[in-house]
Amino acid sequence: MASDVNASLIVMRWIHFTSAVALAGVFSFRLLVGDPAFKQGGRAGHRIDLGVLAGKLMPIAIAALLLTLVSGTLWLLLQASVMSGQALSRRVVTIVVTQTQVGHDWLLRTALLTLLAVALALRRKQLGSHSRAPLLIAFALAAAELLTLVWAGHAGAARGGRGALEQAADAIHLLAAGIWLGGLVPLALLLATARRAGDEGWLFVARAATIRFSTLAVLSVASLLGTGIVNSWLLVGDLAGLFGTDYGRCLLVKLALFVATVGVASASRLRLVPRLASAPVAPGFEAAWKTIRELQRNIAVEVGLGLLILGVVGALGTLPPAAHRHVHTVQRESGPRAPVGPNPAFVWSERRG
Ligand code: HEM
Repeated sequence: MASDVNASLIVMRWIHFTSAVALAGVFSFRLLVGDPAFKQGGRAGHRIDLGVLAGKLMPIAIAALLLTLVSGTLWLLLQASVMSGQALSRRVVTIVVTQTQVGHDWLLRTALLTLLAVALALRRKQLGSHSRAPLLIAFALAAAELLTLVWAGHAGAARGGRGALEQAADAIHLLAAGIWLGGLVPLALLLATARRAGDEGWLFVARAATIRFSTLAVLSVASLLGTGIVNSWLLVGDLAGLFGTDYGRCLLVKLALFVATVGVASASRLRLVPRLASAPVAPGFEAAWKTIRELQRNIAVEVGLGLLILGVVGALGTLPPAAHRHVHTVQRESGPRAPVGPNPAFVWSERRG
């Protein structure tokens, strides 16, 4: 029973992190890559309709938003059953939602996602154009939802100066994951649309977007590595913890996947992006389209590896940190550090008589 719940928790965290990263990624890509590349195209005399890209990205944003909402709620219900140690009831859910940090986090995330849904519905037309305000609002709400996950992991239970450092590192870590991993699918969609159009204008935009995204990816990878090292130092502590605990070994799997992902991304950055940037504007642009096909293949591999990394993250947050293998303390109502079984702080069932 406990292992089933734990497996479900890992899957729900995986789905939630993936959809939250995808949601923030759509709007960070538009804001930092897509829209500026179209503007560059416009300045170079290419009249390409941004609405085409916006129209393709909106369904991804809506699907990611709904998946984040549903997975977040199922995650809460799973945690409620773990915390109460009994079958779910209106009483148990009410206690968790109104009296626990987990419940308050869920309320905040649900409020942010509802505001984003309203903003997307009210501003759908403007989001298909170059007006920045609705895009900034959408990005801010999606990024805020992603950042609230700092409190869903070990960082949320940390206190004092170390706690602040862990939470700051986690926040930058999450944002970098959203901008890089979450931006890969929108970039692949832009490149596919450009290839289908096959004209010089779209080639210009595809080239400008690829160069912009590549620079952003380098900054994101550096941020992920830097904050990942800080997180690892705080939550693993030493080599014995890295090789000698489930948490440490899980992190090693993540690091191996990270190295593979950076390997593929570097091949794009060092070989394909320069080739695309210097591809001759010859009739049919064959050399450029061939390079874009190779870029799309690499992006598909990066997305696959990224999904595996987020799967490991799903598990990592349910394991006691290696650095804590010497102490067993009750840190939070229901965080990963709390003991298994009903939390005695609450009266889960109606008192009889
Ligand atoms: C593609 C690269 C990466 C992605 C997408 C990624 C993603 C994430 C996400 C979403 C979290 C969850 C944060 C939370 O639970 O609050 C996380 C936590 C973490 N990451 Fe990464 N990460 C990446 C690379 C790295 C690297 C390179 C390291 C180590 C050098 C690292 C070490 C950690 C640690 C220690 C945590 C804390 C987990 C916990 O709360 O117990 N990550 N990562």
